[in-house]
Amino acid sequence: MCVIALSQIGCAAACSQDTLSGYGESEMLKRANAYIAANRDASSDEARGTYHFTPQIGWMNDPNGFVYFRGQYHIFYQYHPYDSVWGPMHWGHATSKDLVRWTHQPVALAPDAAYDADGCWSGSAIVVGDTLYLFYTGHTERNGVRVQTQNIAYSEDGVHFVKYEGNPVVGPEQVPEGTPVADFRDPYVFERDGQYFMLVGTLGNGVAKVETYRSEDLFRWEYAADFLSRSHAGYCWECPSLVTADGEDVFFCSPVDYPAEEYRFRNFNSCVYTTGKFNSQTGKMSASAFDETDGGLDFYAAQATQDPDGAVMIAWMNMWNRTNVTHELGYGWAGSFVLPRRLRVKDGKLLQTPVEGIAAYYTDEVRVSDTLEGTASYEGVSGKILRLKVTADVSDCRSFAVSLFKDDTHETTLTYDAQAGTVTFDRSESGYPIAGDAREASEGKRRTARYTPENGVLEMEIFLDKSSIEIFFGEGELVMTSLVYPPEGADGIAFSSEGSVRLDVTKNTVSG
Ligand code: FRU
Repeated sequence: MCVIALSQIGCAAACSQDTLSGYGESEMLKRANAYIAANRDASSDEARGTYHFTPQIGWMNDPNGFVYFRGQYHIFYQYHPYDSVWGPMHWGHATSKDLVRWTHQPVALAPDAAYDADGCWSGSAIVVGDTLYLFYTGHTERNGVRVQTQNIAYSEDGVHFVKYEGNPVVGPEQVPEGTPVADFRDPYVFERDGQYFMLVGTLGNGVAKVETYRSEDLFRWEYAADFLSRSHAGYCWECPSLVTADGEDVFFCSPVDYPAEEYRFRNFNSCVYTTGKFNSQTGKMSASAFDETDGGLDFYAAQATQDPDGAVMIAWMNMWNRTNVTHELGYGWAGSFVLPRRLRVKDGKLLQTPVEGIAAYYTDEVRVSDTLEGTASYEGVSGKILRLKVTADVSDCRSFAVSLFKDDTHETTLTYDAQAGTVTFDRSESGYPIAGDAREASEGKRRTARYTPENGVLEMEIFLDKSSIEIFFGEGELVMTSLVYPPEGADGIAFSSEGSVRLDVTKNTVSG
């Protein structure tokens, strides 16, 4: 579908053809970029991942505007350059050819308009013709009144963005009765069957939901339906995202205060997914029950996009309502993204695997095979920046554990318990403490997930990057992602079992 030129839009607020390509950097944007250039060298690389994206300086949260445009990936992010704590949100920006090595770009958006004066909050991107469009939430909070509206910025070079003169494009005039514009955010825009759709996270009458808006031209929007709503499913649903993988629609959102169930949803902020079908006629999604997207302690605000190979997802590797360690330690930056994940769907269940491009960074391969009874470490199998492939036949053991980031007094463990049918990640002895606040259904130290390995063989692909651990199980049916802050020198790895385990390990350094 072709988008009509902005100058053809009948509404009074439409901008002229001149402003379509015209770009003027605002004082606020200039200030942000100048501040980063002047101060980035003062931020510390301590704990900074080498093959995970982090901001040069300042605070980062959600990924925004994840998109494939003219042969490269663009990622934007919630960004406060001036301090390593959350503040008035800008959109930081970076590009990559392989989703592993990123090039920092100038800050794309600053809160310099009346409708986004207190922050350019999360949103998405869509490419139409030769133009890259960003959709984001303008956040204002004056005299205790919060208003959130949806807005457009666009770019023809993929670097400099112009805010649309007709902003906001979705605001109090469009929302149905009962939708609170105080919590109405994170637009996700996509095209389906010749129309554009926007998903916006909100709530109504105490029920968390995502609303669908519809447009023929990307600029004029009307409410279409409640995309999906569920009671007892958290307060507001943040950061909706929808992609297709293996012919199924996969919907992600990040509910605030989702109720814990046994081992799942124990972070105060969960990230959930469901698979099913989006109906472009009705604007509704028919979907299965929510499942947790990642079983670890630090994963939120996942955003997915289509690329030439299918569907790929990225997320903030951190969590609200926890202490901000890199800030406490004075490193000058906070926040990172997970290693992007390729998405597939099998029998309605999401499978996540590390993005293909990471394999090009593997060096120094060490392979070990052993029959383990008790505890063992292996020559060359150690380090803090690596990928570990573990294949363990656990059919004859009571438990099997991998101990990471280990020295005499510290370790981070992953334990498979055969009788319970669970895996438990434990960072309570990992190093610098990370504390959760009272609202969490876990103390922020351990997470357990139900897991029964197929045919008694536990397959894990583990990625360590100084302060992060991502563990992919089996075909990707379970992933656990968490942060840890081990001390200098804690780079040991040990394996232990109760009972006998046939073990194959491949270790690669990852040279990001
Ligand atoms: C999710 C979120 C979004 C919001 C943004 C503000 O982490 O709360 O809902 O747009 O962060 O930075």
